[in-house]
Amino acid sequence: MKLVSKFALGLIVASSFMFVGCYDNASPGQNEVAKPVIDDTEIGLRKTDLFSEQQVKPDETQYSESMAGSGHKFKRAFQDAPPMIPHSVEGMLPVQINNNQCVSCHAPEVASSLGALPYPESHMIDFRPKHKFDGQKFEKSIDNMKNEVSIKKISQLSGSRFNCTLCHAPQSTGELVHNNFDPDFTTKDGAEKSHWTGTNLTDGLDTVKE
Ligand code: HEC
Ligand code: HEC
Repeated sequence: MKLVSKFALGLIVASSFMFVGCYDNASPGQNEVAKPVIDDTEIGLRKTDLFSEQQVKPDETQYSESMAGSGHKFKRAFQDAPPMIPHSVEGMLPVQINNNQCVSCHAPEVASSLGALPYPESHMIDFRPKHKFDGQKFEKSIDNMKNEVSIKKISQLSGSRFNCTLCHAPQSTGELVHNNFDPDFTTKDGAEKSHWTGTNLTDGLDTVKE
């Protein structure tokens, strides 16, 4: 009898431990909220409660208001990076087929007299793949085993560079995210000037040169 009651007591104790164990591991019920591991104010760049738009204050976009010619420039981001536009582009955009004001100041014939840097040699090279086109049908001019990019020097701005703002953008001066990148320029004046000669990135590649 004594033995049985001890055994029964043991069962009761064991099952209550099991019960406690289950309760601890159970997923939170409808009214319980799981403790967040990362606070939602830390998830995004906005650093505010994700359920409220009230306190959201994005960093203001501040483009340069200095007129073209006032001499302000930004350092290049890395060697031969496309320079950011340092002057106001008010009234210059969008670039249109009959109205490309960028060219009217940055074309090599006029740029230096206006204190602007001419667009570089690379902008007067056609890198588009070679094709045969008879007005109806495109045909590859070389086989698939070769690098199809060709390098054709042309005497004018390449059509693929006509829309300058595809690559050159005005720089906003806010600091939404701090930039820790420290460029390692390979030329002495790499922070101010491009030294891309148009072919040095493709030298040694199996590329058609014309
Ligand atoms: C009225 C003449 C003029 C027009 C139009 C103009 N620019 Fe400029 N740009 C300049 C001058 C001058 C500079 C040199 C910095 C300065 O003095 O503002 C310059 C600087 C730049 C630079 C920086 C070059 C460097 O060395 O860092 C870029 C990129 C640029 N312009 C792109 C453009 C684009 C793209 C457009 C068209 C949306 C444009 N510019 C329209 C005159 C002009
Ligand atoms: C497809 C992208 C692209 C387009 C479109 C483009 N550029 Fe550039 N640009 C670059 C890159 C990349 C560089 C730096 C490397 C180099 O010299 O090619 C550069 C460099 C420049 C420089 C600096 C030259 C130097 O000597 O440091 C000027 C000025 C410039 N571009 C003006 C323009 C103008 C004006 C237009 C429109 C007519 C234009 N770019 C269109 C990519 C582009």
